[in-house]
Amino acid sequence: MGVSINPSILSANLANLADECMAIKDYCNYFHVDVMDYHFVPNLTFGLPVVEHLLKVVDTPLDCHLMIENPERWASAYAEVGAQSVTFHFEAATSPMQVITNIKQHGSKVGLAIKPATKLEDVVEYFDYIDMLLVMTVEPGFSGQSFMADMMPKVRHARELIRQRDLPMTIQVDGGVSERTIEECAENGADVFVCGHGVFRAENPRAACINLRKLALDAQNGAWWT
Ligand code: DX5
Ligand code: ZN
Repeated sequence: MGVSINPSILSANLANLADECMAIKDYCNYFHVDVMDYHFVPNLTFGLPVVEHLLKVVDTPLDCHLMIENPERWASAYAEVGAQSVTFHFEAATSPMQVITNIKQHGSKVGLAIKPATKLEDVVEYFDYIDMLLVMTVEPGFSGQSFMADMMPKVRHARELIRQRDLPMTIQVDGGVSERTIEECAENGADVFVCGHGVFRAENPRAACINLRKLALDAQNGAWWT
């Protein structure tokens, strides 16, 4: 089992984004890019131009989390410009299979995200076609919110299903994941960890990445699912 630490650039100093990413790039697996459109969520962040520029300055792969309406129309563009992983929300899609196909066409990994109120049962039919399930541990829209521990049974159930079916899929948790909460996520079955405030607002972001990875690895070792 592996651990992926994906710092969310939404918590970085955006006026100094390249430098903040360069400082920790060797300590993380992906940079997590929260794309918000002011419609699917009540916040507006960045889109394709930021992704394209970031891809030019850092060689760490990008994990784009699309919190946008109409992913059928927009998701493939993120894959096309080179984002190595593109995640869209089940709740925003009218044809999830179409979005999955669009993203895969350009060779990117596909993630499917579910909001806290969305049931796992609603997305199980896509497990054979996706690379990652994103279980939101806050309501999508803002960084720095409190971790919802009541999402842990959902993570656990997803891990049980993946094990039963021996699928290569990973489970990402996003929202309030920090040094205080990462072990609980790993124990329950998560292996991809998005950390915004937990990394970029830490006194030493590099040390935070190292510590988060260690905490997750230690919690995974000996967990029921490893
Ligand atoms: C929330 C975003 C998260 C957020 C995480 O909608 O999807 O990726 O940036 O930030 P923290 O870790 O601070 O909750
Ligand atoms: Zn996110």
